[in-house]
Amino acid sequence: MLDKIKKILHEVENFRSTDIEEIEQFRIRMLGRKGVIGEFFSEFKAVPGELKKEYGAWLNELKEKATDKILALRSALESKDNSQTVSDLSLPGETVYLGSRHPISVIQEEIIGIFSRIGYTVEVGPEIEDDWHNFSALNFPVDHPARDMQDTFFIKKNPDIMLRTHTSSVQIRVMQSHKPPIRSIFPGRVFRNEAISARSHCIFHQVEGLYIDKNVSFADLKQTLLYFSKEMFGEDTQIRLRPSYFPFTEPSAELDVSCNLCGGKGCNLCKYTGWLEILGCGMVDPNVLENCGIDSKEYTGFAFGMGIERQALLKYGVKDIRLFFENDIRFLKQFRSVLSS
Ligand code: PHE
Repeated sequence: MLDKIKKILHEVENFRSTDIEEIEQFRIRMLGRKGVIGEFFSEFKAVPGELKKEYGAWLNELKEKATDKILALRSALESKDNSQTVSDLSLPGETVYLGSRHPISVIQEEIIGIFSRIGYTVEVGPEIEDDWHNFSALNFPVDHPARDMQDTFFIKKNPDIMLRTHTSSVQIRVMQSHKPPIRSIFPGRVFRNEAISARSHCIFHQVEGLYIDKNVSFADLKQTLLYFSKEMFGEDTQIRLRPSYFPFTEPSAELDVSCNLCGGKGCNLCKYTGWLEILGCGMVDPNVLENCGIDSKEYTGFAFGMGIERQALLKYGVKDIRLFFENDIRFLKQFRSVLSS
């Protein structure tokens, strides 16, 4: 029996193959259920006690060598496979997919670009605000419903501190720290305690605009918004202003643009009205100017504020605002640029 084991061991040591099928046959013959090595182990039971140690050592060595050999031949075959795939250097390179900027960032930068071309600077303010900057200085009456727990995330320990509900808080900070003329936009995240649905989210982004100077009129506001709408939604875009109410602007208005999908004829996107509501605006209320130490007899100004998600929904025809926050790669991929090496 020992001779037979040594003979097989010799065979294992000399076995060479680059054929996966042949290696498998070899494995079955050696290590399979009815294989040679298994048979040796059955015969081993009959080996006399004093020889067991020696026979056992040889058998274990055989089993180990056969196993190692098969693994080594297989992995040599795999690495050869890999090297074969790149061995044809004339093949075209693999396409390299670049990540892309998030659609909200793309739209935000587009809006910043449009206003910076007409001289607006960009300013930012804190996301955690106090009541004065978020509400009081903006002329919100003490019992205004927007202060309600329904809309605002207050900090439990201090009801004076909250997550800002709009970027209008940055208006106040900028008017306090800068002397007119002021011509700035304020992009940023805002927070509202609202149920999350296809149309609203508790976190979203706004861009606020503020222009304060001598003799700024409602006509300036209208012309600025017409310029913005054409840049954002196309040269043929028309605008209309509807009267509205905000505590910090007087008069206040909401801006609609003609539907960029149907051109004003009426479709699903504009709910067959031909118009899309895009922002709130108005002339800065004199009380707000005075709250910030600006003489309202000398200076006037306008402000406007828009949701970035809303602009993105309209521009890309996205139906559900939640998609912007879920980071589903299948959604984000659609805004991806492709670079082929
Ligand atoms: N802050 C308002 C909002 O969040 C938008 C707005 C800004 C309206 C500036 C008028 C002027 O709805």
